[in-house]
Amino acid sequence: KELGSAAEAFGNKALLVYGGGSVLRNGSYRDTLEQLKSHDIQFTEFNGIKPNPRVEDVMEAARIGREEEVDMVVAVGGGSVIDSAKIIAICIADDADAWEVMTGKHEPEGAKALIAVLTLAATGTEMNGVAVLQNEKTMEKIGYRNELIYPAHSFLDPSYTQSVPANYTAYGIVDLIAHCLEAWFGKGEASLSDRFVISIIKDAMDYGPALMNDLESYELRANIMWAATNALNNITMYGRSSGDWGVHAFGHVLSFLYDTAHGATLSLIYPAWMRVLKDRAGERILQLGKELFDLNSVDETISAIELLFKSLGSPVTCEEAGIDPSKRQEILNLMNKNKAEGLNFKFSEAERQKLLDHMF
Ligand code: NZQ
Ligand code: ZN
Repeated sequence: KELGSAAEAFGNKALLVYGGGSVLRNGSYRDTLEQLKSHDIQFTEFNGIKPNPRVEDVMEAARIGREEEVDMVVAVGGGSVIDSAKIIAICIADDADAWEVMTGKHEPEGAKALIAVLTLAATGTEMNGVAVLQNEKTMEKIGYRNELIYPAHSFLDPSYTQSVPANYTAYGIVDLIAHCLEAWFGKGEASLSDRFVISIIKDAMDYGPALMNDLESYELRANIMWAATNALNNITMYGRSSGDWGVHAFGHVLSFLYDTAHGATLSLIYPAWMRVLKDRAGERILQLGKELFDLNSVDETISAIELLFKSLGSPVTCEEAGIDPSKRQEILNLMNKNKAEGLNFKFSEAERQKLLDHMF
């Protein structure tokens, strides 16, 4: 189904949301506009959504959406834009405060329909009910899950991702691998879901490095786009009671403090997190190493994961991520304040210290 005819089902006025302007240069904005116009759907724009999206922008966009009485939200961009659009869609329908929604203080009754046009393969937001936002006042970056914000339609054209620069391409590949690992280290045994995890990571290992050497390749972009969608659309989660998500929680602290790109925080923290948990999660790390690299040692498995991230060009130390050693205490304080840890692997303050030892 084309975007225009899909949109017609929801009404005749859209709020079109995008970021800093990359969509104006890769054809996605032009094609979306053409679709809306050819189906007589009026639209109002809200642009300027930032990577590591801010709750204030979401509130402002929702205000405009309400004022203009839009029937739907059309998001064109990467995870930051689509995540923002998800909460905008609730806040327009429900006249709610975005942070009250994010923190679960406001239980939404509805959401405007969301149509997503994805331009960056990474987060999986195009096929899930999750949104992540940050709030300067509370000093948090947090996730929110609700089936109401599952996109009504998502359009995935790999050609839109051909313009993603090398750094964000690498961060996207790291992010999709990290989503698989969060499931792998979650709670509960689920052998079929484990096999999905391994297959998706193997696809990323096959096509990721090849893509980094050939950023224009439509085929490689398509393979990575599909892997990223499947890495966080629940297929890796069936049979488990939860994923872990500790590395994501620690990473959000770095994104909040230094505006570090999401994928960069994950490549930096995952190897360090595994080193801290060598005893507690040793069996699971070992099993991962066997499946992915045919290795028989926890240490070698951690090094292989680290090397994989490094070979993609994503940072594996704070220095490589541009974070100065003098920031160590500041990071630790916020990790402790925000009680960053996983759902499966809880962290003591002493373990957070160890985590930082391995990151610097
Ligand atoms: O702002 P514009 O100009 O569009 O530029 C963006 C931005 O600078 C650029 N970009 C996007 N598509 C492009 C492009 N540049 C050239 N060509 C294209 N086709 O890339 C930069 C990063 O964009 P962003 O949307 O921030 O990246 P990503 O898709 O990695 O999204 C990251 C956000 O998603 C959250 C992260 O925490 C982070 O805030 N996550 C969302 C999840 C979810 N909803 O399920 C799960 C994830 O774990 C993640 O936490
Ligand atoms: Zn992620």
